[in-house]
Amino acid sequence: MTTSRREFLGTGLAAGAALTLGRPGALRGADVRALSTVRPERAPHPLNILILGGTSMLGPHIVAYALGRGHTVTTFTRGRTKPTVHQDLFHHVEQLVGNRDSDLEALKGRSWDAVIDNTGYVPRHVRDSADLLKGHTGRYLFTSTGSVYNLNQDSVDEDSKLLDVPEPESEDVNKYYGELKVLCEQAVQERYGEAATIVRRTSGSPTSRMPTHTSCRVGCSSVSRSCEPSHSEPRTC
Ligand SMILES: NC(=O)c1ccc[n+]([C@@H]2O[C@H](COP(=O)([O-])OP(=O)(O)OC[C@H]3O[C@@H](n4cnc5c(N)ncnc54)[C@H](OP(=O)(O)O)[C@@H]3O)[C@@H](O)[C@H]2O)c1
Repeated sequence: MTTSRREFLGTGLAAGAALTLGRPGALRGADVRALSTVRPERAPHPLNILILGGTSMLGPHIVAYALGRGHTVTTFTRGRTKPTVHQDLFHHVEQLVGNRDSDLEALKGRSWDAVIDNTGYVPRHVRDSADLLKGHTGRYLFTSTGSVYNLNQDSVDEDSKLLDVPEPESEDVNKYYGELKVLCEQAVQERYGEAATIVRRTSGSPTSRMPTHTSCRVGCSSVSRSCEPSHSEPRTC
């Protein structure tokens, strides 16, 4: 995939007047107006994007932005949670149902240009999806967290030491949220190398110990380490 990070994530440009999608239907009328607060520029090369997740906090905003860019979006969830924002846009989204813990059947035999893994908390889940999608996606973006660092220190930046993982076999996300994210990141990087992108997301709130401009790491290895300003939700996790 040759689309640059800035082309993929860039903001601030007007949405195209006519947004035609390959599947499941074309955006028009109210749907286009719903995108008016997002205003992404139409992508020069529309992509097929799979979001592992897509319906809770971050997901619907990614869906709206990607559709606004003219990309085709597929989500993968258990089918329990309904989005509370951008609901109407989900008519234009292929919604696959499964479970990262036990059922990836809906992903088998399918290919996407890019995968956005928003729901990787357990390393086993990330290894399973990353393995299954290997050779079926040009890029695997993993949504991580600033909690991979010890935030109880005066300052943190991208080069700060990551948390040690005392119990690597644990799947106790409540106890080891940041530690398990470290292992999830590693699983993606080991499998995808240059085709991996790791985003370390934080709240970006004024009380956050991480300055916004160093609050995430976009891209691994040779990919740019600079970060666009964070505008995420006011909650750090
Ligand atoms: N909030 C913050 O401030 C913050 C800060 C730092 C990092 N992060 C990271 O940002 C990411 C954002 O998460 P998000 O919830 O906003 O993502 P999202 O893309 O909105 O997707 C969440 C959806 O995933 C589905 N899901 C949950 N468990 C699943 C499973 N086992 N199998 C299949 N689908 C499942 C749920 O739908 P169903 O119930 O229908 O399955 C849920 O609605 C997380 O990785 C988090 O660690 C967040």
